[in-house]
Amino acid sequence: MALIEVENVTKIFGPDAKSALTRYRAGLSKEELLAETGHTLGLADVSLSIEKGEIFVVMGLSGSGKSTLIRHFNRLIDPTDGRILVNGTDVLQMSIRDLEKFRRTTMSMVFQRFGLMPHRTVLENVGYGLAIRGMKRSEREAKAMEWIEVVGLAGYENQYPTQLSGGMQQRVGLARALATDAEILLMDEAFSALDPLIRSQMQDQLIELQAKLGKTIVFITHDLDEALRIGDHIAILKDGRLSQVGRPHEILLNPADDYVAEFVRDVNRARVLTVDVVMQPPRARLTGENMQRALDEMRRLGERYGYVVEGDRYRGVATAERLEEAVAGAGANSQTLYDVAETGPTLAADDALETALPAALETDYPLPVVDGDGQLMGVVSTREMSSVLTPPKAANTPGTPAAAPAHAVEGEEKLAS
Ligand SMILES: Nc1ncnc2c1ncn2[C@@H]1O[C@H](COP(=O)(O)OP(=O)(O)OP(=O)(O)O)[C@@H](O)[C@H]1O
Ligand SMILES: [Mg+2]
Repeated sequence: MALIEVENVTKIFGPDAKSALTRYRAGLSKEELLAETGHTLGLADVSLSIEKGEIFVVMGLSGSGKSTLIRHFNRLIDPTDGRILVNGTDVLQMSIRDLEKFRRTTMSMVFQRFGLMPHRTVLENVGYGLAIRGMKRSEREAKAMEWIEVVGLAGYENQYPTQLSGGMQQRVGLARALATDAEILLMDEAFSALDPLIRSQMQDQLIELQAKLGKTIVFITHDLDEALRIGDHIAILKDGRLSQVGRPHEILLNPADDYVAEFVRDVNRARVLTVDVVMQPPRARLTGENMQRALDEMRRLGERYGYVVEGDRYRGVATAERLEEAVAGAGANSQTLYDVAETGPTLAADDALETALPAALETDYPLPVVDGDGQLMGVVSTREMSSVLTPPKAANTPGTPAAAPAHAVEGEEKLAS
């Protein structure tokens, strides 16, 4: 079971949300609901699951319901309909006491507008969650200082929030959330006020931290590049509805509707998509030392190239020409398949296509993808790569598998695929 389960959550803001819900269910749009009842639709029938230990990104235009969604998780907002389970517990069923403990220990939040206490110093703000947990002063100050250093604010610990820039205040909020050691971090546009350099440093830190501490992070952003960079999954909201949830490459390759397609249109796909997305099993996988057998196998498959594997290790590419020569040649008896295999360039599964493509264009066979232990995982052809680098003309309808348009790159026809 997922760590956070959102089940059919609908939120309508206003004094009589229940009857507004009935009107909405009868078919009113968000605009009509507002015009006719004065109620605002915040979320509409949203269901999603967030796994333990992932970075889950929520995206969407301003007013699409991002903050409303994550504020349900720690019950800053109660749904009009539906329910939210965290660790299997229905947050709506929690007593006040449980809820306080839950907010102190399980989930901490970095607020969109910082939410710092103006009359407390940076050090006191960061240590606040620890203070209400009853940690003694010297201990919590030491801990708060550690996080102040992590976010790059050492030296500012005795300043007050108003003495800091927006980006610095945002980092105080982040340090405060991290200091609580909560298992789940809710980050509402936590990096939006940071300048690009600090922002990308903070992204790196967040990814590192997540890997090291195994935290679950729910991260709201307006910035698609940021979402694609840090997200394990991305949810895209539009007018309170969920347009799509998926892995970054799924969102890029198979946008569920025009809204999502519009979002991803200008993305540098070569930078975001990685080799594993287009990797295929090699056609001719050659094992054993025998050259004649290898050649027969390649002829059977109609292939000019074979990938030589010894045990678990990738040894190189054997071309049909080279094998024919070797089999016919004088040294045939003393040579093995391993001797004629040529070690050329190899790729790693997480290489961006941007880096993989130049190497692939220099060889006339699909490039082998090899893992850290030297095992052959698959191969990628320039044809496969170029097919995913061109954005689809129109959005695919939901449910259809990623249909990769096969636009040929120049001169590509002659390449094996
Ligand atoms: N307390 C509230 N009372 C009334 N309406 C609200 C309230 N909070 C949010 N809304 C409405 O709910 C919708 C979603 O708002 P929300 O703050 O979740 O958007 P958002 O995606 O976080 O936007 P932004 O990117 O601007 O922060 C909006 O139409 C907003 O007007
Ligand atoms: Mg918001």
